[in-house]
Amino acid sequence: MIDSIEKYIQQIEAFASKDAKEIEEFRIQFLGKKGVFNQIMEGFKSVPPEQKKEFGQKANTLKNKAQEKIDQLKAQLDSNKESASQEDFTKSGIPLESGSMHPIALVRDKIIEIFSRIGFGLSDGPEIEDDWHNFTALNLPEFHPARDMQDTFFVEQNPDILLRTHTSSVQIRYMENHQPPFRILSPGRVFRNEDISARSHCMFHQIEGLYVAENVSFADLKQTLQYFTTELFGKSKIRLRPSYFPFTEPSAEIDVYWGLETPTDYKMTKGTGWLEIGGCGMIDPNVLSNVNIDPDVYSGFAFGVGVERIALLLYQIGDIRMYFENDQRFLAQFAKELNL
Ligand code: PHE
Repeated sequence: MIDSIEKYIQQIEAFASKDAKEIEEFRIQFLGKKGVFNQIMEGFKSVPPEQKKEFGQKANTLKNKAQEKIDQLKAQLDSNKESASQEDFTKSGIPLESGSMHPIALVRDKIIEIFSRIGFGLSDGPEIEDDWHNFTALNLPEFHPARDMQDTFFVEQNPDILLRTHTSSVQIRYMENHQPPFRILSPGRVFRNEDISARSHCMFHQIEGLYVAENVSFADLKQTLQYFTTELFGKSKIRLRPSYFPFTEPSAEIDVYWGLETPTDYKMTKGTGWLEIGGCGMIDPNVLSNVNIDPDVYSGFAFGVGVERIALLLYQIGDIRMYFENDQRFLAQFAKELNL
């Protein structure tokens, strides 16, 4: 009997496992209700009295060794678990895809950079405007028919508040607070109550230029625009086509001669070779008076170009909606354009 306890003890000492299930099976085998220890103790009664002491001691040793073994293996298991849950710093990381600039931002920045080289600074204004800055001060008093040229989003509760329909409102804000000479550029979002289609959107971007000083002439305007199109598109041939804006007089549409070299050129220019990129003109003396600049002393020019329209020409992307859907597959194409 004592010999068999000895053998069990050896078995216990030799046991090793890293498996929680195996360890539990081991516990049941030796210390469970019907386990080895209890079975041995059941035979205690029939042990001859002179062996009882030794038997009892051996049985106890078996119990203690089994318990020690279980504790030791479980502790090992826990420490393994702990280290497994710690970060493995040798593992390679999750690759981070580098982002890209939005094409509208790319074009805007390029235009700002071109004009900064000839002394144009930047000016900003609110997207939610009042009637004065968006219309009235720009020589568009209430009931002026030209207000219909720009379908406007008004705030229902207060028709004096609207979403600016053009960045010309920034000109007014700037001129109200500065005396000439100045040259500024105001890029920003504008809003028109128009249906969304491939060619039009209720929100788009403009960049407006403004130059006021003594003796500014229409020739200065043309020269400035010519410099701009040459730098941006590599095209120096422009045409200023007579037009009408309430805040400029005379006014003109800016056309660039794109050329007719490829089938796309034909398609884009409808076979004429010419493309319209914006509007311009000499600032109407009424506008200068509205902002307390003396029209007898100062004159100036202004121009406004559509950023989406220029992006379309640079990247040949004909559907304006693409710019605002934020489809990663579309945007990712501009990653390499950072040094446009
Ligand atoms: N504000 C005009 C528009 O949105 C563009 C423009 C700007 C025209 C400056 C002339 C001078 O259509």
